[in-house]
Amino acid sequence: MNSEINSVPIVIDKADKALNISAIIWFLVAVVGQWLFVYYIIVHFGGAVIKTDTESWNDSTISGHVPGDTMGNLIFAMHVFMAAVITFGGTLQLVPQLRKRALALHRWNGRIFIFTAYIMAIGGLYLVWVRGSVLSTNGAWAITLNAVLILTFATLAIRTARARNITAHRKWALRAYLMVNGVWFFRVGFMAWIMINQGPVGSTENLDGPFDLFWSYANFLLPLAVLELYLYTQNRAGARGKYAMAGGLFLLTLLMGLGIVAAFLFMWKPYL
Ligand code: HEM
Repeated sequence: MNSEINSVPIVIDKADKALNISAIIWFLVAVVGQWLFVYYIIVHFGGAVIKTDTESWNDSTISGHVPGDTMGNLIFAMHVFMAAVITFGGTLQLVPQLRKRALALHRWNGRIFIFTAYIMAIGGLYLVWVRGSVLSTNGAWAITLNAVLILTFATLAIRTARARNITAHRKWALRAYLMVNGVWFFRVGFMAWIMINQGPVGSTENLDGPFDLFWSYANFLLPLAVLELYLYTQNRAGARGKYAMAGGLFLLTLLMGLGIVAAFLFMWKPYL
């Protein structure tokens, strides 16, 4: 009887560990993919500025450099420069050792992250609705929702941090991090889908096929749903639920890994 009671916390303890390990593996794989994205941004967009060949931005974009559109070109340049800052900075915010040993860095990097998130979301809205850098109406509305969620979650993350409500801050910061990485998830998920199907099934050149319609929203809503499930499991589920979540997250990590390799090889490497 006694040993039975004693064994319950041990099982939960192991399940917690499995869940924790699956999250760490997810994060490590995501970091590799996000740093590769940063590398692409710096070399492709930054390199073009150094070589004074901003025309080459257009090799990979809808309307990167438009002759005569100084305002649009400036906002685009700022958008991509900040994309590198926020994607790199976002990964640092999630490293627990940095939070513990260098709290000042976490705080400053956090402020930069939130500020950059605002500028990127608002600048992105300008690029979509004023400049018209968009392939489909559906895509425009989807990324607009993404921008609204970035602005909302970033605000809640900084508010809860200021109120020293660390439990709530952790949740809003994680949500903001995933929303900010929506564009990255878009590319990685899109490439994983193409690899699995051995072709762009349900996708068109203008990104208005059935898969495109689904993925333009799911690229940020699906990671958000997985995070909510993870947070729920972490706090409320029993051992079985935790093992199931750990297994599910591991499978998603494999899929994400496949997408990262494909995005790097076929989307980014050709411009390096
Ligand atoms: C905050 C996270 C964001 C990151 C990291 C990010 C990153 C990027 C990058 C790297 C590009 C260059 C395109 C490429 O070669 O892949 C880009 C372009 C663009 N982004 Fe963002 N972005 C973010 C948020 C947004 C939001 C919220 C919107 C819209 C509301 C948006 C709208 C655009 C548009 C319209 C372009 C130009 C597309 C083109 O001309 O091809 N972005 N973004």
